[in-house]
Amino acid sequence: APRRKKIYEGKAKVLYEGPEPGTLVQYFKDDATAFNAQKKDVIEGKGVLNNRLSEYFMTGLTNIGVPNHFIKRLNMREQLIRQVEIVPLEVIVRNFAAGSIAKRLGMEEGTPLPRPIVEYSYKNDELGDPLVPEEYIIAFGWASQQDLDDIVALALRVNDFLTGVFYGVGIKLVDFKIEIGRVWDGDFMRLIVADEISPDSCRLWDVKTGQKLDKDVFRRDLGSLTDAYTEVAKRLGVLPTNT
Ligand code: C5P
Repeated sequence: APRRKKIYEGKAKVLYEGPEPGTLVQYFKDDATAFNAQKKDVIEGKGVLNNRLSEYFMTGLTNIGVPNHFIKRLNMREQLIRQVEIVPLEVIVRNFAAGSIAKRLGMEEGTPLPRPIVEYSYKNDELGDPLVPEEYIIAFGWASQQDLDDIVALALRVNDFLTGVFYGVGIKLVDFKIEIGRVWDGDFMRLIVADEISPDSCRLWDVKTGQKLDKDVFRRDLGSLTDAYTEVAKRLGVLPTNT
């Protein structure tokens, strides 16, 4: 029998009721999906790696004062997080052209961008998370102009932090996605980084060889995803142990 009430199940994670009000337990599955779940597989050990890696990045963000949902890791596959009201946007930051921007603008993958570019997709599986301009976000009330200013500031701080951490272990941060949640302290609303930060939602290229160490390995059938994520964890010194 399940120990806890399931609140939500996504493609790669499950959220359960937490031990205290305002908390949730985030469980990392081994499932991998791409192209809006048209391609699916179970990747042995992925959940364990992403649980560790997300802990590592969120803890680092906490240390530099970037607010996020992480409280503590509970076990190999679960972490305790703050409950948030998720903003229905995927916030994408790009440093080099790759993936959809390269395709849309006919750019060669790996082309440096003039500055980090922040863009938004509307989180909606039926629609395949379409790219949306700020105008839509504000008009439809998904976030206010003030929220978007705060979200850009958060996203750029996360980008600076992650770029440095990865560069220190010989990895280029090409782009990544974060999600943002709302929390309330009384009447005062704050925006914090939520969801996960892992190679599932980043593009990571080895600085020397250009080898891909992220979910593109799965999307493009380039080899073992577990090997790629294990390499990232190893370089960062967070290879999972049995606790
Ligand atoms: O596909 P695209 O080039 O727009 O992806 C940009 C970045 O956002 C990539 O790192 C990708 O892994 C991430 N992303 C994601 N979830 C999505 C769409 C993109 O994590 N639904």
